[in-house]
Amino acid sequence: MVQAALRAAANAPGYPTVRGTPGLREAVAAWFDRRRGVPGLDPQDIMPTVGSKELVAWLPFLLGLKAGDVVVRPTVAYPTYDIGATFAGAEHIAADDLDELDAATRARVRLVWVNSPANPTGSVRDAESLRRIVRQARELGAVVVSDECYAELGWGEWDVQRGGTPVPSILDPLVAEGSHEGLLAVYSLSKQSNLAGYRAAFVAGDAAIMANLVNSRKHAGMIVPYPVQEAMRVALGDDAHVQAQKDLYRGRRERIVPALERFGLTIHESRAGLYLWATAGEATWDTVGGSRTAGSSSARGCSTVMPAMDSSGSR
Ligand SMILES: Cc1ncc(COP(=O)(O)O)c(C=O)c1O
Repeated sequence: MVQAALRAAANAPGYPTVRGTPGLREAVAAWFDRRRGVPGLDPQDIMPTVGSKELVAWLPFLLGLKAGDVVVRPTVAYPTYDIGATFAGAEHIAADDLDELDAATRARVRLVWVNSPANPTGSVRDAESLRRIVRQARELGAVVVSDECYAELGWGEWDVQRGGTPVPSILDPLVAEGSHEGLLAVYSLSKQSNLAGYRAAFVAGDAAIMANLVNSRKHAGMIVPYPVQEAMRVALGDDAHVQAQKDLYRGRRERIVPALERFGLTIHESRAGLYLWATAGEATWDTVGGSRTAGSSSARGCSTVMPAMDSSGSR
């Protein structure tokens, strides 16, 4: 279905639109309403991105951050948040709560990254926890940007298909409390639709910031090709393939969790997303290097689930 949409849009010799076709932006707004509990999002406040990694990397620069400004990111995090701060010449600081920072540092915070569900820990922030960080950031006049690319992959209490609660978005009315001011949500089709190769993602939120971003990205040539915009529009309107993709991950998860536990690993967090955050109470290099003996016969029996490492630590 997605490939058919891409092919049908292949005759696209003109420049595509940076802000996104009206059809795509309406599909994103409908998706936020249907899947994320965010009704009434104005399609004006939505823009496609060339995958979300480029946005994560360039956002601090495009927002005008500079030396002396602080970007806060989760303590265990996807590395591109720090890269983005570095590109802008800003400082990056790891914290999960802005109260962890001293007063002088708090005064310099301009951007706060939230990543729920998180890579790599799989932790999920509930609406109350998101609301808390939004309130803290608003007090400081900082923008909160929420990278939500694993939102459709909740397990256990966050597994909607098994009676769980949907993972909340930063734009959820319970979190945003009546205004999207200072808030941006970043989402990607790389995981839910297995579309990493298409570079298909979007950002939505604060009207003034979005207008500014569209403008600067026009001048920087950061445009999603029209056939990909069409593929995204169609993918966002279809929930069946997202369910099939999730079921694939569910099957793998149900097989690998008991295998890792038999190997002697303890799984932490991992409440949503693709990853299992597992430790054996020892240096991870020892665990993946195969020197581990704990778990005896069952550990040896499951050792093929762990990648072998050579002495330099590369696969
Ligand atoms: C937390 C997080 N953010 C962003 C991305 C980037 O996704 P993409 O650039 O494929 O949209 C990833 C990919 O692994 C990720 O784990």
